[in-house]
Amino acid sequence: MSELIHYRLEEGLALIGLDRVPVNALDQSLRAGLSNACERAAADPRVQAIIIHGARGLFSAGSDIGEFGTGASFAEPDLPRTLVRLAGIHKPLIAALGKVALGGGLELALACGYRIGEPNLRVGLSEINLGLLPGAGGTQRLPRLIGAESALNLILSGKQIDAENARLLGILDRVSTSPERLLDEAREYAYELIACRAPAQPAEAWPEPADGLPDDFLVRYRAEHEPSWKSRLAPRLVLSAVEAACLLPLDEGLLKELALFKQAESSRQSKALRHVFFAEREAARIPGVRDDLPLRSITRVAVIGAGTMGGGIAMCFANAGIPVALLERDGKALDRGLTMIRDNYESSVRRGRLLPDQVESRMDLIFGTLDYADLSDADLVIEAVFEKLEVKQQVFLTLEKVCKPGAILATNTSSLDVDAIAATVARPHDVVGLHFFSPANAMRLLEVVRGKATAPDVLATTLDIARRIGKLPVISGVCFGFIGNRMLEPYAREAHRLVLEGATPAQVDRVLTDLDLNMGVFSMLDLAGIDVNFLVRDSNRTASAHDESYCRLGDELYAMGRYGQKTGRGFYLYEGRNRRDDAEVIALAERLADELQISRRPIDDQEILERCLFMLINEGIQLLDEGIALRTGDIDLVWINGYGFPAHLGGPMHYAEQLGLGTVLAGLQRYRNALGKYGEMWFKPAPLLERLVAAGRKRIERF
Ligand code: 3HC
Ligand code: NAI
Repeated sequence: MSELIHYRLEEGLALIGLDRVPVNALDQSLRAGLSNACERAAADPRVQAIIIHGARGLFSAGSDIGEFGTGASFAEPDLPRTLVRLAGIHKPLIAALGKVALGGGLELALACGYRIGEPNLRVGLSEINLGLLPGAGGTQRLPRLIGAESALNLILSGKQIDAENARLLGILDRVSTSPERLLDEAREYAYELIACRAPAQPAEAWPEPADGLPDDFLVRYRAEHEPSWKSRLAPRLVLSAVEAACLLPLDEGLLKELALFKQAESSRQSKALRHVFFAEREAARIPGVRDDLPLRSITRVAVIGAGTMGGGIAMCFANAGIPVALLERDGKALDRGLTMIRDNYESSVRRGRLLPDQVESRMDLIFGTLDYADLSDADLVIEAVFEKLEVKQQVFLTLEKVCKPGAILATNTSSLDVDAIAATVARPHDVVGLHFFSPANAMRLLEVVRGKATAPDVLATTLDIARRIGKLPVISGVCFGFIGNRMLEPYAREAHRLVLEGATPAQVDRVLTDLDLNMGVFSMLDLAGIDVNFLVRDSNRTASAHDESYCRLGDELYAMGRYGQKTGRGFYLYEGRNRRDDAEVIALAERLADELQISRRPIDDQEILERCLFMLINEGIQLLDEGIALRTGDIDLVWINGYGFPAHLGGPMHYAEQLGLGTVLAGLQRYRNALGKYGEMWFKPAPLLERLVAAGRKRIERF
């Protein structure tokens, strides 16, 4: 028997334990082992029932994602046919599910006639997150088990549900009393099934999966949900597969599912989402830092400044059950901050996302103070005061006096030099940047800014605590704007310049949202605040001193008090949540173009797309070359999770590789030549891009 399978015969039962670390991904070797073990049990007359379980507890995270897009994903024995065979064995199969049963792992369980899970189990069909659909019977067997509507909701959300919800839905027959008792209770279940001569496969709970639903259910479902799918392929394929489950017999439905799965697997979108999956895991690795480096213990946190960011940051820790002291400079500001936090929680209650008593338990974890002495036991302090170097340096000088040795001192600056802040204290190795995104309690991205003195264990500890509070940490070096905002600058520059040359804000935004970005540049600036953007730009004027033309539009809007949504006027006019184009902004663009002697012309969508994206990509490549970003995947994660770049395009770096690096370089050179002095000044291809193209490389990497 394969070493990936533990096979045990026990008084009428065959116990088949899957043992492929870390998550029992069903690669070709595990599939082969499982298939052989099941055949052995099926053929052994002493075996009356078969239990499949995770040898180390965890059941299975599904197919091996690394096999997709290679010949190995359907190498024999492939998962769909293995599961058809398992479902045809004439003895009851019981899946004993520990920790996780996801994707193909859950499909394996669905092919078994009976399922018992431990109380902490999480189950789901998470394929959609990889641009796939369940391809080993999930879209056919699940609707027959829980009905088409519940199955669709589970498959399309890609969400994991807990054991109790899985039992209520009908996915689990039983939940064990504890994780430790799972296997014992699976045995007891098996003996009960043997005693009552239960069939190998019980009757389907929903032989007609669409029973009780209106005839046009799927048509209406599509009409309701399609706008949110944008150009994603996988949700549409899921719908076709579930439709097949409603219309076709199982064997035909399985064939249809397989064809749809293969279409999804070979799509660019799935390739991009698989890249994102592995990039997220890679982001946790710090080159040169051992995985087993001892971490500093973080049990108490403090946040300085209870404004927009400080309040949101405090909520992140309270939400994770970690006590947090929130320090302000005066009582009024503190009260305002605490009230804002409570209001935020209460609005979550109104939206049904939080229970009223959870508001109190979270507020109890946030301790407002005006006294630095209360920070003496904090393990991690995050400063979120005004964006002024002197103010932050003053705060750090105080922190140095009051904080215990070994406390991590973090700054949430969005643009200032983390090394200049660290230099104010005698322990710069304890200083790190933690750049949260607004709203801090909701946004998943956290840029962890590594100063030149930041100690490796400080970095590793902050990555760990970031994950504990549900964030996706990405490491950045020190530079103006770090990874995200530094790339935003050339991207937004092009957008502004295009409006001076003749495009409208709405046209630019539409081109970008047509690519499935969550928002165009101008909607984003109106949301974040034209004033905020102005102040950041103002503190870095030297960088654009030789050509400020493109900044004029934002500067003038700022001078007019048009700060965006908060003032009801920015690049657009706002009435409540509705926005309208504004002729005044176009007139302003015309006047500025005249003053700056920029000739205006109709601009086509393709030019907008290329100029904005090529500049974004070019800056990303430059950041990699400078070592500010460690990996292209990190850059992609920042733009997907911080700026709404579509995950199914894989992020700007992956997108560039798909376009072809030669295409990007040729585009930059074309605009450099076409746009006169402006082109010469700004369309400078990153030297790394030129080297990559010259060497015929297809992937963006430092060399
Ligand atoms: N295939 C290959 N590797 C996988 C994997 C999978 N399905 N699931 C996890 N891994 C790897 C990770 O890459 C990571 O490897 P690393 O240590 O070398 O970086 C390791 O397992 C541990 O994973 P995490 O760091 O994510 O550990 P967590 O404990 O945080 O999470 C998990 C565990 C919940 C299982 C999470 O990894 C997960 O969600 N995995 C993906 C599950 C999934 O999407 N399954 C569907 C696969 S597609 C499918 O089954 C198709 C079928 O329908 C035909
Ligand atoms: P804010 O103006 O809303 O809040 C700042 C708070 O700090 C105020 O409540 C103020 O009273 C308090 N404060 C000022 N000096 C203090 C001191 N010496 N001691 C104690 N408290 C003090 O500002 P916001 O937007 O929360 O920004 C804070 C920091 O976060 C800035 O560095 C900013 O660049 C950064 N940031 C802001 C983002 C945003 O979108 N607003 C996004 C990411 C980072």
